[in-house]
Amino acid sequence: MSFSIDWLDLREPADLRARDQGLIATLAEWCAGRTPRILDLGSGTGSSYRGLSPHIGGQWTLTDIDTALLREATQRHGDEPSFATTRNVDLMADLEELIAETQPDLICGSALIDLASAQWLNRLAAALPPTAAFYMALSYDGIEHWSPQPPHEETAHQAFLSHQRTDKGFGPALGPDAASYMAEKLSERGWQVQSALSPWVLDRSDAALIAPLATGSAAAVAETGALSDSDLHEWAAGRAVARNVTVGHIDLLALPRA
Ligand SMILES: C[S@@+](CC[C@H](N)C(=O)[O-])C[C@H]1O[C@@H](n2cnc3c(N)ncnc32)[C@H](O)[C@@H]1O
Repeated sequence: MSFSIDWLDLREPADLRARDQGLIATLAEWCAGRTPRILDLGSGTGSSYRGLSPHIGGQWTLTDIDTALLREATQRHGDEPSFATTRNVDLMADLEELIAETQPDLICGSALIDLASAQWLNRLAAALPPTAAFYMALSYDGIEHWSPQPPHEETAHQAFLSHQRTDKGFGPALGPDAASYMAEKLSERGWQVQSALSPWVLDRSDAALIAPLATGSAAAVAETGALSDSDLHEWAAGRAVARNVTVGHIDLLALPRA
């Protein structure tokens, strides 16, 4: 799956507003007094770097499969003291080697693990160094409210959820179940896990995000064949002009007991 710079820029203000500040404060406390080596998985252009580094400092390695996104991150931040380097990796193939080589104190990311399968999340949990923290923001949780409600919303949303579970490059995705699955895996392995809801709460001042969000979800639902062309069109048109939209996410923080 590829993500354009324009799309990532468009969603970033909503992401920044949505990130749970309590979890960030707890992570900042954990980071205080050290300069953690931070590995940002699927960094894109550096949204997590921008959201977190002012609070936690550190030495950041941004990783992504998309070289254009990493180039953009370097252009924006390459001369900043917390920005260490970028690594062009395929996290499906290179995960364990990347973690072993970079020895992170913190593995972080955003809008990533809902793309991943249970198998890949098992690998990530197993590869997390025992003294490292884990922070993963903005995993989609499947809860959406669009107001006024567009026609065919329930059928379309169920189809969207089934599309969320298709393979996005990491095996069959867990989609909305990914955050709770990862929380359980890390808890079983001994990390202290906290989670918080981090929904996008959008109104007409976010119309520039709502319209492409409607188009993107319509493209996904079209692939499922759940709606006729005319119903799909009606639904997408209704979503595009929605006045109030909530899109649910979960932020996850896991701290090592050591
Ligand atoms: C939804 S975007 C989120 C980007 C960024 N974390 C943010 O919040 O703006 C998912 C990111 O994961 C990256 N990605 C997807 N599959 C990947 C893979 N197999 N290896 C490395 N990065 C991957 C994409 O290129 C994209 O930058």
